[in-house]
Amino acid sequence: MGETKKMLRALAGETQAVPPIWMMRQAGRYLPEYRATRAQAGDFLSLCYNSELAAEVTLQPIRRYGFDAAILFADILLVPQALGADLWFVTGEGPRLSTVTQQRDFDALKPADAIHDTLAPVYDTLRILTDALPSDTTLIGFAGAPWTVATYMIAGRGTPDQGPAHALREENNALFEALLERITDATIDYLSMQIEAGAEVVKIFDSWAGSLQGDAFENYAVDPCRRITAALKQKHPTVPVIGFPREAGEHYVGFARKTGVDCVALDNSVDPEWAAANVQVDGCVQGNLASSHMVTGGQALVDDTRAIVRAFSGGPHIFNLGHGITPDADPDNVQLMIDTVRNGA
Ligand code: CP3
Repeated sequence: MGETKKMLRALAGETQAVPPIWMMRQAGRYLPEYRATRAQAGDFLSLCYNSELAAEVTLQPIRRYGFDAAILFADILLVPQALGADLWFVTGEGPRLSTVTQQRDFDALKPADAIHDTLAPVYDTLRILTDALPSDTTLIGFAGAPWTVATYMIAGRGTPDQGPAHALREENNALFEALLERITDATIDYLSMQIEAGAEVVKIFDSWAGSLQGDAFENYAVDPCRRITAALKQKHPTVPVIGFPREAGEHYVGFARKTGVDCVALDNSVDPEWAAANVQVDGCVQGNLASSHMVTGGQALVDDTRAIVRAFSGGPHIFNLGHGITPDADPDNVQLMIDTVRNGA
């Protein structure tokens, strides 16, 4: 305790009159300085593995806006790449990977503890940031949740309904579960190393948790997150963990209790008043302004920002969007959101 950083105070359970604020994808294509550095790096993956430039883009939104937290610049798909999958990005379409659908694909993957050669530049990025960040800015590390990462490894790309991953878990559950376990083990190692390199908080992104229903949600969203959190807490008991089971709906209720995470990040399909009554009762929540406001701005942005701050004002809260900011966002709208949270709510 005795924390001075606003972000860490919220994660320790403190209610603050003005919540800390940061933004998913705050280093991204809506910023001209990001586009310039990305061009200098060559492409997105080269930027992820260039520690100096990855640290530079992480710092850009901190310099411009003074956010309370900086999130490591990297990608959730670096873990599959470190496990031996081929990974590339198709401009305008998104990620592509070699697929894991057969036992022989799984057998070709590397063991979990073999990921660090590939991921060493990520740890260097965190070391650079630890020295470079302002003293009141919290450094966040992250990884994808096993289910979300598995959906990309199985389909070889993003899919609207995660169909191929659901098909594999029905048709070859042993293979599916072995893959999930490999990703879980790798994620524990990866996040531990991120913490050792300077991450003060880690966040687990389960972008496709919403397509898991009933027992499947318990087995493939809750359980891996619980295992990762428990393993991290054993090694690094003071480092807070944020869970983001995006579009979990009713499954947000009790998620913190079941998994042991210190904070639950909410997507913007969740009503803030409902979440205050049903999720924030268990501790800190993060969210949840619709990222479309960063495109459209105006009074609607101000009104929704105020409503979220007000709804969560009775407990620990970290202000954020409900999903990443999009490339067509207007940087001035980000400033308007920040001003509303800090001065006008
Ligand atoms: O929040 C942050 O800024 C931290 C860095 C970060 C990125 N991706 C950078 C990135 C984080 C935390 C992610 C998470 C991520 N990556 C997720 C989970 C969160 C979510 O958004 O649902 C997923 C599913 C991915 C996989 C991925 N990476 C996709 C689907 C894409 C989009 C492809 C595209 O062209 O838009 C990426 C690329 C990506 N990751 C970008 C950034 C800034 C854009 C790449 C660019 O500069 O061209």
